[in-house]
Amino acid sequence: MIKTKDSSVTLYSEKYSEHYHSTSGALEESLKKFIEPCNIKDNFLILDIGFGLGYNCLMALHNSKVKIISLEKEIVKEIQTIEVPDYLKKDYEKIKQAAKTLKYKDEIRIILGSAESTIKKLNEKFDAVFLDPFSPKKNPELWTLEFFRDIYSLMKHNSILATYSCASLVRKNLKEAGFKVLDGPCIGRRSPSTIAIKQ
Ligand SMILES: C[S@@+](CC[C@H](N)C(=O)[O-])C[C@H]1O[C@@H](n2cnc3c(N)ncnc32)[C@H](O)[C@@H]1O
Repeated sequence: MIKTKDSSVTLYSEKYSEHYHSTSGALEESLKKFIEPCNIKDNFLILDIGFGLGYNCLMALHNSKVKIISLEKEIVKEIQTIEVPDYLKKDYEKIKQAAKTLKYKDEIRIILGSAESTIKKLNEKFDAVFLDPFSPKKNPELWTLEFFRDIYSLMKHNSILATYSCASLVRKNLKEAGFKVLDGPCIGRRSPSTIAIKQ
């Protein structure tokens, strides 16, 4: 576990040899690269790909009354020991509860398994998608054209997918799946994140 530059903590994954978040600021990354670009609002149904430490879910729940379905392969036990700033503590208890029981009231539902398979069982229509796997090099199965097509088919018209990556293969696959692709904000590095709109 390490402290990032905005004082929030993240984990280093030995399995993927990557951090769960940008070391420039884990909670800042959630807010600036996922919640804000997706224009999260009350009553949104969000598809969260890669629950991880639940920070994207946390920041969405903290800012609006939303429902979230999260796809995750392996929930790490370290979540239960993570400390967040005081103003987020109450909402992070919901995340810790969901990490234990895969559910928090009707606000969060976690579907355990490989997202590229579990996504095929969904038939909800989502208002926003957080695409937050490890990098395309380390986690290629969640950046494929087939996976993006599956995501696209579950999104509402004009809804937004946000992701931190701007890799050219990622953008090419997003475009081929039907998305309009735009630059997202540059946070903690020179390159932008990516916003993909279903039009
Ligand atoms: C970068 S972390 C996500 C960080 C998270 N969004 C957060 O806010 O804390 C990537 C997550 O994707 C999960 N993951 C990797 N491959 C997966 C797969 N094929 N299906 C589902 N989850 C996967 C990992 O276990 C990890 O929790």
